[in-house]
Amino acid sequence: MRSETIAIHGGYEVEKTTKAVAVPIYQTVAYEFDSADHGAALFNLEVDGFRYSRISNPTNAVLERRVAALEGGREALCVSSGQAALNYAVLNVSELGSNLVSVPQLYGTTHTLFAHVLPSQGVTVRFAESDQPDAIEELIDSQTRAVFCETVGNPAGNICDIEALARVAHKHGVPLIVDNTVATPILLRPIDYGADVVVHSLTKFMGGHGTTLGGIIVDSGKFPWREHAQRFPMFNRPDRSYHDLIYVEHFKEAAYIGRCRSVYQRTTGSVLSPLSAFLLLQGIETVALRVDRHVENGKRVAEFLRDDCRVDWVNYAGFPDNPHYPLVQKYLGGRACSLMTFGIKGGFEAGKKFYDALGLIKRLVNMGDAKSLACHPASTTHRQMSVEEQRKAGVRPEMIRLSVGIEHVDDIIGDLDQALEATGSAQRMVPIRQ
Ligand SMILES: Cc1ncc(COP(=O)(O)O)c(C=O)c1O
Repeated sequence: MRSETIAIHGGYEVEKTTKAVAVPIYQTVAYEFDSADHGAALFNLEVDGFRYSRISNPTNAVLERRVAALEGGREALCVSSGQAALNYAVLNVSELGSNLVSVPQLYGTTHTLFAHVLPSQGVTVRFAESDQPDAIEELIDSQTRAVFCETVGNPAGNICDIEALARVAHKHGVPLIVDNTVATPILLRPIDYGADVVVHSLTKFMGGHGTTLGGIIVDSGKFPWREHAQRFPMFNRPDRSYHDLIYVEHFKEAAYIGRCRSVYQRTTGSVLSPLSAFLLLQGIETVALRVDRHVENGKRVAEFLRDDCRVDWVNYAGFPDNPHYPLVQKYLGGRACSLMTFGIKGGFEAGKKFYDALGLIKRLVNMGDAKSLACHPASTTHRQMSVEEQRKAGVRPEMIRLSVGIEHVDDIIGDLDQALEATGSAQRMVPIRQ
């Protein structure tokens, strides 16, 4: 099935007892055992089934199968937020004393997780100077457990060369873990280019309506954990916390998600509620249509900003003179994402006036909503970073990040126009394109 069809039907067969066509919300904590032996067999993972919703739930299982299919992955685990997904995805391969190698262009909270939280637990993150494969490779050593990047950086808008990064990671026997939140599998399926694990904040374009937090980890099932047993003992040795289970033997190609669920989800419980899973499934049904419109509107808005003399600069990867343009062709099918950044003439103060004057476009810290949203990263999402860290992450003091929604594009442009007017800088010289 194509993505548009998987987004609507993937992972669900009409439920046999009631014949419900919409995915039912299984709002239950636990599931009855047929007998003591049945309960024991479920706990021993000898039979399929559900036992407790902190570990798995039938509504969440549909979401997991659907997103795994959209990404071309083997198995998935959904959790309560994108941050929970990122935390589990990297902890699942880490141990005390190990390290991760990351590109510098990251969402602010991911940077905080990597720069401050993981190191306090004995896992260091080495930030490369850039997203270039050479810069990544020189930081990999025998303690490295993964290479990490955002396929499209938020807010930097850089597009990572997934194929090249996967090649470098695999050469050293480590997986490539990517955050595909901004691109979505509609624009890019990183597993097709060699990524091993794909993480999403479902809160954004996937859910698409700004109503529901959620995250997911999708495993390609292709990384050879057995071959690299010395680097990844956690998948290859008996786990004393789980009846001496050896993950690569029990779960085979699904060892990564099997362990993530059995260890992290079970013992630390960042659980997605079944109602949230249902709402995210509703959103995903229309993700392909919405992304088409986001992309179309994004292009028109970027052109408007570029042509307006009150705007100082625009960072939009869909312009042929943008350094990432060739990668937009290679990885995004020529369709740049609707997330863009820009600065207006007059610097920080003019930027503030502009921001305060927005009407239709909401001032907040979110993206990927049907609604158009504007954020000032330096004072919000990337506030915890030093100025130098912000620079490396692609954040400038005056920068506004725009997540272009799916309203009528003329209304979005109209709001930008009146907010630019409010800054009192020179009049627009190029008329709005109709
Ligand atoms: C690229 C990216 N990854 C992860 C997250 C975290 O997602 P959540 O808010 O669902 O925890 C965000 C949030 O903005 C994000 O932009």
